[in-house]
Amino acid sequence: MINLGVLISGRGSNLQAIIDACESGKIPAKVAVVISNVATAGGLERAKKHNIPVVVIDNRQYKDKNTYELEIVKALQAHKVELVCLAGYMRIVGQVLLEHFPMKMINIHPSLLPSFPGLHAQKQALDHGVLITGCTVHYVDSGCDTGPIIIQSAVPIMEKDDENKLAERILAQEHLIYPQAIKLIAEGKLKLEGRKVRIK
Ligand code: GAR
Repeated sequence: MINLGVLISGRGSNLQAIIDACESGKIPAKVAVVISNVATAGGLERAKKHNIPVVVIDNRQYKDKNTYELEIVKALQAHKVELVCLAGYMRIVGQVLLEHFPMKMINIHPSLLPSFPGLHAQKQALDHGVLITGCTVHYVDSGCDTGPIIIQSAVPIMEKDDENKLAERILAQEHLIYPQAIKLIAEGKLKLEGRKVRIK
């Protein structure tokens, strides 16, 4: 059983998928704390419903990124977190978090990386005219959505797609692959060779 710390900024549907997978015993993990940089994030209510401790750490209240992230690190350590899961956490991770959780932090992104990193990945895919996009779970490194890739799922783009319709179909895949990736890590099945992630 490993302790997860989930970082969010909004709705928290991926957080919900992770909580459900933990509670149903599909993954040998427990959400030990949910941390949001946004006080009104919907994900906080989801966590409370499952009696999971929540912490709001508003980045705007800190003089710089290091001080802000140190506060997050303290909360993660206080809850004995072993793996940090970014789930719709809309801040770029800085040096402090990375140093405290090296290769112990993963993220979900709504595109087939390395295509369309950063914000509005679904719109970027539509605007570019790709026929297939999807989602990616990857380790977090110092770049923006650049870390070693753990799992991807492809989603075809339909003629009548707009950003919302596409985002919804991608989200359904996100909810499947995020718990799968956590399961692989919790069971100690992943091994890193350079930037390639191998399943043992
Ligand atoms: C998800 O689509 C996630 O992939 C995306 O934000 C959404 C959060 O939804 N994350 C990013 O774009 C990070 N760059 P949720 O709050 O319902 O999980």
